[in-house]
Amino acid sequence: MAKIKKIALLTSGGDSPGMNAAIRAVVRKAIHQDLEVVGILRGYEGLIKEEFIPMNSKSVGNIIQLGGTILKTARSANFMTVEGRKTAYENLVKNKIDALVVIGGDGTFKGARVFIEEHNYPIVGLPGTIDNDLYGTDMTIGYDTALNTVVQAVDKIRDTAASHERIFFIEVMGRDAGFIALRAGIASGAEAVLVPEMPTDLKALHEQLSEYMSSKKTSSIIFVAEGDDAGGAFKIKEAMEKFGGEFDMKVTVLGHVQRGGSPSAYDRYLASRLGVAAVEALLDDQRSIMIGMINREVVHVPFNQTIKHHKTIDQRLLEIVDVLNS
Ligand code: F6P
Repeated sequence: MAKIKKIALLTSGGDSPGMNAAIRAVVRKAIHQDLEVVGILRGYEGLIKEEFIPMNSKSVGNIIQLGGTILKTARSANFMTVEGRKTAYENLVKNKIDALVVIGGDGTFKGARVFIEEHNYPIVGLPGTIDNDLYGTDMTIGYDTALNTVVQAVDKIRDTAASHERIFFIEVMGRDAGFIALRAGIASGAEAVLVPEMPTDLKALHEQLSEYMSSKKTSSIIFVAEGDDAGGAFKIKEAMEKFGGEFDMKVTVLGHVQRGGSPSAYDRYLASRLGVAAVEALLDDQRSIMIGMINREVVHVPFNQTIKHHKTIDQRLLEIVDVLNS
């Protein structure tokens, strides 16, 4: 294998708190190993458009605490084409870049895998998404911060729900996964958590709310993952109204507030560990892997596995929601 002298990095897909901490770790570790570092703006789109910026230690000073990504991010339709990926490869070669670190979610890794198959190019990935839906790592970079953001917001909702004796349906992100809803729901003391991984029985939900509100509760918080099969919080509220509508119900969609904010201590730590490990993996001639953390140990997970396997919901957590509301 040719010796790696110069690497590039990019952030791709939905941004997440901690991406800047990961960028900082990759850049500082690379420089420590006497590598040159290039930042690519706007994900794979910037790779195709050759939006490259040289990076040094100062480039990543004072960013560990910042949400978002200083390299910007974007989704790239061009990178989904053979021609787009060919241009991307030519740009890497032209700029004498020997390897690439991509920070993003499953779409990012899917693109990287196709690129590697076509151009046999060294790429390692870091799991940067609030969804925590990537197989091969206990937590993704941004998930912990998003959970804390949700819990702090719902604590505020709970105040007004109690004052007005209302039911609130809180819709959270997660794309087609329920990890944010489930863990934030438990942490918020939710009366129910609806996730895509479990079919939602609207009639049973109405009966449950009727029982709660007629006997032991004067207000309720119901978490709804945006990918839930019942179609989201507004649809569920409408269904409850059709069943009887005897409750005063409101909907709050937390939306993109979950994607911002200063990363938590854990996300900064996770991003730093994984960023350093990404450079070490490239220098060890590894490629086509995601760097994850399982049981507090850094692991290498082939892109094929992290794409093929689906991280499953722990059913026991759904039971805990019921038990803690019985
Ligand atoms: O993948 C992260 C995520 O925040 C999902 O939870 C959400 O569905 C999606 O991105 C939103 O995408 P966009 O920011 O492009 O609207």
